[in-house]
Amino acid sequence: MKDIIDVELKTRTVDFSKCKTDVLAVGLFSDVKELDRLNKELNSKLHGAIEQLIKLGDFKGKDRTSATVYGNDEIGAKRVLLVGLGEKKKATLDTIRKAAANAAKQSVEIKAETVSLALHRAFGGRFDLPAMGQACAEGTYFGSYRYDEFVTESENGRLGLLKVELIDSDSAKTNKLKQGLSSGVAIGKAQSYTRTLANRPANVINPARLAAVAKELARDSKRLSCTVFDEKQMAAKGMGGVLAVGSGSQNKPRFIVLKYSPPGRGASTQPTVALVGKAITFDSGGISIKPAANMDEMKLDKSGGIAVLGTMKAVAEIGPPINVYGIIPSAENMPSGTSYRPGDIINTHSGKTVEVQNTDAEGRMILCDALSYAVKQKCDIIIDIATLTGACVVALGKYMAGLMSNDDELIRQLQKASDNSGEKIWTMPCGDEYAEEMKSKIADLKNIGSRWGGACTAAAFLRQFVGETKWAHLDIAGVWSFDKATNFTTEGASGFGVRLLTTYLMNLTKKTKK
Ligand code: BES
Ligand code: MN
Ligand code: ZN
Repeated sequence: MKDIIDVELKTRTVDFSKCKTDVLAVGLFSDVKELDRLNKELNSKLHGAIEQLIKLGDFKGKDRTSATVYGNDEIGAKRVLLVGLGEKKKATLDTIRKAAANAAKQSVEIKAETVSLALHRAFGGRFDLPAMGQACAEGTYFGSYRYDEFVTESENGRLGLLKVELIDSDSAKTNKLKQGLSSGVAIGKAQSYTRTLANRPANVINPARLAAVAKELARDSKRLSCTVFDEKQMAAKGMGGVLAVGSGSQNKPRFIVLKYSPPGRGASTQPTVALVGKAITFDSGGISIKPAANMDEMKLDKSGGIAVLGTMKAVAEIGPPINVYGIIPSAENMPSGTSYRPGDIINTHSGKTVEVQNTDAEGRMILCDALSYAVKQKCDIIIDIATLTGACVVALGKYMAGLMSNDDELIRQLQKASDNSGEKIWTMPCGDEYAEEMKSKIADLKNIGSRWGGACTAAAFLRQFVGETKWAHLDIAGVWSFDKATNFTTEGASGFGVRLLTTYLMNLTKKTKK
């Protein structure tokens, strides 16, 4: 198995035109008619080549486009990559993140070893430099990522390491970019780690292996500890939901608890946050088996749990003054003679009983145990993240995650983290009408509602396991993967949630409310 491409990130103060590099990336907006100072300088050293490209209409600065101009003796770069930024008035931090991803992806494709990003120059003072530095770091990890650890035959090989630098000619500016670099690197690295684990198939990752990965993560960090409950320990704790879902598989379920303790003291005034992630290592549907088409995608049904793992990794590296639990119930949902059945009534960790009407609604069966476990740990805020329903994909498509919550402030904070991180969310309801549908005649709850509003009834089911605790649920069934490659990513697992959740936690510890 070969290693995933690594990224090395630095900042450097250097004259743009003198910068020796394989690729120098600069940004251009589609609606800014005159070239900015940097592009003017490059254009004149390139004897008008940039202007020519624009004049001929080959490059218009549109979103998701780019053009390459080859260097000459007057500039240090072998290539200047012009990255389209779209309309300036629509620009967000995600514009620069995606532009960096675009530059990194193309650099990997042409096997450039060094990439110098001067993308921030086009934005002027629009965003602060540390935030742009962070976004560039996240973007280069995202764009350079490809999942090829099992590809043994490749046409002409690929780089093992991409060296990226954020450059400016003004050392004060470089220093500011640098301030955002360490968290950007921590988040970018953690997101790539998440994508790799999520992309690994179910014959490589099962619940026990996932637990071993979590243990390894905790071993590598002095701020993380990890406890894993096996079947016996789960039985002792009455975690009937996880046990029921896991009962059909040879690969036994696990309940993974990571704990992050901040450096030093001073975390006592901060709330304790629990991140709860669904980790079904394969979802066949169980006895209520799924149709064959695209069932292979259900190896990604562990994405929520792995996003929690990745977030814990980023948080451990960044070290914010806050207490965080990462709670990951993990099982493989398979049909067999030992599987749980439609009609079964399950005793969950909370004490509530659940009538199983469909074994394919297994996510909520494992999450309910994890949510009530989080409540018992006295967490102040619980956020769960899960590839929970096809209904959410029908509602929102593949662009945004569904957000359901019982707390308006938490919704606002997550929305802000979403704006910062570029991982989009959309608020959906989960109130009493939906909860009503989840009542069973022969148990406290049943695990499916009517045909309609499936994402909302699923969330309403979960809501009943958190009591009065502030809670939010992210349904990431639509955003778990990219169906095909785009200018900023290859296909496969997206790692959605790592940027959103890490940013949320970092924002909590910032004094100024932006
Ligand atoms: N893991 C699936 C949800 C899913 C569907 C994720 C499509 C990504 C893409 C979940 O366990 C599931 O099977 N949900 C059922 C629920 C139903 C039986 C109430 C669904 O959405 O069909
Ligand atoms: Mn299912
Ligand atoms: Zn599932």
